[in-house]
Amino acid sequence: MSENLIIFNARIVTPIGFSARKGEEMSQLQVIENGTVEVTKGIITYVGENRGEDRDGYYQHYWHYNARGHCLLPGFVDSHTHFVFGGERSEEFSWRLNGESYMSIMERGGGIASTVKATRQMNFLKLRSAAEGFLKRMSTMGVTTVEGKSGYGLDRETELLQLKVMRSLNNTEHKRVDIVSTFLGAHALPEEYAGRSDEYIDFLIREMLPLVRDGELAECCDVFCEQGVFSIEQSRRLLQAAKEHGFLLKLHADEIVSLGGAELAAELGALSADHLHASDAGIRAMADAGVVATLLPLTAFALKEPYARGREMIDSGCAVALATDLNPGSCFSGSIPLTIALACIYMKMSIEETITALTLNGAAALQRADRIGSIEVGKQGDFIVLNSDNYHILPYYIGMNCVIMTIKGGMLYPVA
Ligand code: NIG
Ligand code: FE
Repeated sequence: MSENLIIFNARIVTPIGFSARKGEEMSQLQVIENGTVEVTKGIITYVGENRGEDRDGYYQHYWHYNARGHCLLPGFVDSHTHFVFGGERSEEFSWRLNGESYMSIMERGGGIASTVKATRQMNFLKLRSAAEGFLKRMSTMGVTTVEGKSGYGLDRETELLQLKVMRSLNNTEHKRVDIVSTFLGAHALPEEYAGRSDEYIDFLIREMLPLVRDGELAECCDVFCEQGVFSIEQSRRLLQAAKEHGFLLKLHADEIVSLGGAELAAELGALSADHLHASDAGIRAMADAGVVATLLPLTAFALKEPYARGREMIDSGCAVALATDLNPGSCFSGSIPLTIALACIYMKMSIEETITALTLNGAAALQRADRIGSIEVGKQGDFIVLNSDNYHILPYYIGMNCVIMTIKGGMLYPVA
């Protein structure tokens, strides 16, 4: 019964649709004043104006939530994170403060490799409980679905361990956040394969892709396609094989150096390309191919890299999503509020576009736009309640949370 819920007197604000919104569609939100949403067994069964819900006992078998004075939005979808890992890298952060670059730390054996060492030393329960802590924090900022990547094992056992941690968290009853898993075995070259990156790609193709797929441990396959990490050619080889195994494709594309990752994503029909200091040709190719351009402003902020050209991407007809990239290295932040502020201030996205990017387009970046990302009949009852009836406070609250309630599948989780 607890998943039967009626929220009434709300100002409902939502994108509309069951697929990614592109270009100018991104700014079109539906607003319903004095609105009601009915959720039955976790699924939305009515959205519209109030039907007299104020009257006592109107629907006896439903919990009632009076949202007068508040905005109701779809739950946020954080479609790019690395939240399952061991250890931390605060020391590297201070090296960066002293002028070292992210890539130079990686080149001398730190960076991702250092988290790999720490993650290989974790057991299942420790890894799970650290990851669970991140999920709780995300939920307080309104996240109801998150994508999580492997990529801190880089060997058979630890890659599978990371994915099994996510599966276990996802199988929990009454979870606050749904998890979509991505296999990122090609996150860095493990030291066992030093100087043999093609052989490592062979290992991923031959051994890991079938194992991950047969175990149904991940839906997507990702690669860190970057100068000094995996080349365009190696990324293409891995992702083509992954596609044949039935994985959906994602790329860390053009994060530091613009190598042509966006173009590769378009060529392969990837679901999304993420980060994206993309060229003009790359932007056009993504728009034409329907690749979701996933922008990660917190990482650009933390690494002092230029922000991706969100405005140009939308004006070129791309579907843009926003995500946090929470990870222990380049961006130890899962802050949705700061993501929103940076997108509006530095990527020149409107508030409406930012909302679409974090809801429906985030869902599309996980191939879930048919189930989540908007407040429409048939979708999951995942929402957030803001502390105001004015959604313009979202970027105005710079780095501060204005979510007072996260609702997952019709279950209420007040934010303390
Ligand atoms: O998206 N660049 C690759 N992966 C992450 C960083 C991972 C790490 O530094 O641990 C990113 O920036
Ligand atoms: Fe990332």
